[in-house]
Amino acid sequence: MDPEQFREAGHELVDWMAGYFAHIRDYRVFPDMKPGGLIDALPNAAPETPEPFKRIFEDFQRLVVPANTHWNHPNFYAFFSVSGAPPGILAEMLIATLTVNHMLWRSSPAGTEMEQVTMNWLRQWLGLPDEFFGIIYDTASISTLHALVAAREKYDPEARTRGANGNLVVYCSEQAHSSIEKAAIAIGIGQENVRKIGTDEAFRMRPDLLEAAIGADINAGKHPCCVVATVGTTAVTAVDPVPAVADVAARYRLWLHVDAAYGGAAALVPSLRHYMDGVDRADSVVMNPHKWMLTPIDLSAFYTRHPEILKRAFSLIPSYLQTSDDSRALNFMDYGVQLGRRFRSLKLWFVMRAYGREAILGMIENHCAWAREFASWVEADPRFEVVAPVTFSLVCFRHKDGDEATRALMDRINESGIAFLAGATIRGQFVMRLAIGNFQTTQDDIRRVWEFLRQ
Ligand SMILES: Cc1ncc(COP(=O)(O)O)c(C=O)c1O
Repeated sequence: MDPEQFREAGHELVDWMAGYFAHIRDYRVFPDMKPGGLIDALPNAAPETPEPFKRIFEDFQRLVVPANTHWNHPNFYAFFSVSGAPPGILAEMLIATLTVNHMLWRSSPAGTEMEQVTMNWLRQWLGLPDEFFGIIYDTASISTLHALVAAREKYDPEARTRGANGNLVVYCSEQAHSSIEKAAIAIGIGQENVRKIGTDEAFRMRPDLLEAAIGADINAGKHPCCVVATVGTTAVTAVDPVPAVADVAARYRLWLHVDAAYGGAAALVPSLRHYMDGVDRADSVVMNPHKWMLTPIDLSAFYTRHPEILKRAFSLIPSYLQTSDDSRALNFMDYGVQLGRRFRSLKLWFVMRAYGREAILGMIENHCAWAREFASWVEADPRFEVVAPVTFSLVCFRHKDGDEATRALMDRINESGIAFLAGATIRGQFVMRLAIGNFQTTQDDIRRVWEFLRQ
């Protein structure tokens, strides 16, 4: 593809992308297909000879788009609803055009320094202390893995060379995300050394049970090393009492990691800012701009006040990567598992500049207000009940006839294609989750979902 052909194809693509946003409500949110449908429709082997770009793009429209669950659809309410907004999408095109790999400062000064600039901007928006060092990973799961590696490095530095000894223990609530257990599995702490602490009536970690579990482990000769508090748990968006958890962590000298992957964005809104109270005392924090801050997946922001520990855990520099740049030249490869790094910060920079803090916080405020309104409709209908406090923009609710009725209703709306919701089992009951997070969602969209469910 020469530059002229690239220009022509690029214009055609951008026209399609603009049309996608303009007519997005014409798409089914969840595809009408059976598993294997796309595999069966595509050849079993790649072509030997070049195919015209036009044909590839036609197949994208004819086969790939109808097989897609449209996460960027305003009526996508499943999991955590996320959205990639146009400025970030255009930045993705530039990222791919530059195709830099900023493992070292000298392998891309722009990639390295833009990551420092955007992590500093975002740190201020989140209200985190100046001394927090920020780095971008792909997902919150990987950010949390790095938090656990740093905690392991702090309390058992020899684990780095000899491997973990099965003695370290990590604590989180029974509502915490599975990425904590996965990280413990991956770094050798072991799944059975993750303690799931019980929660109160609002699904928040109970600090008294946390302290009791730590005491029991110490008596058993174990070595408590890390506690993970969550601001916005996955199933119900509960907020653990971070200040009280931080007190316990300080008493037992544990690493405090805060998983604010979804809830962290709410820190932009002054009336919701208090949910981040105590996070400034954490050793590390993760927040995902790709969840509720308009940035196309994937971009997870990780902050720690101990970059030197992270660096000690990971700095392994082969001779071909040794440089003698001055001390201001940061080499991000020293702070994580991966060597290669995408220029992810560019899309965050575009999003932050194109919207500004006020527009983003306005969107978050709207989403939260609409969630509360939806919950009030559910409460007013005697056939339904809301099953968890509406803290942010998620409503967990169910049909009072039970799990079967709730699941049947959810399947019905998903199969209709007009909206897509996901469920979860909370304290033994199946619930539907309406997660509002897309920048194109309107109050009317939410009203139509309720009308469908009500009828
Ligand atoms: C609270 C929380 N933490 C972590 C994650 C994992 O996020 P990621 O997909 O970025 O790994 C999720 C996913 O929804 C989450 O809700």
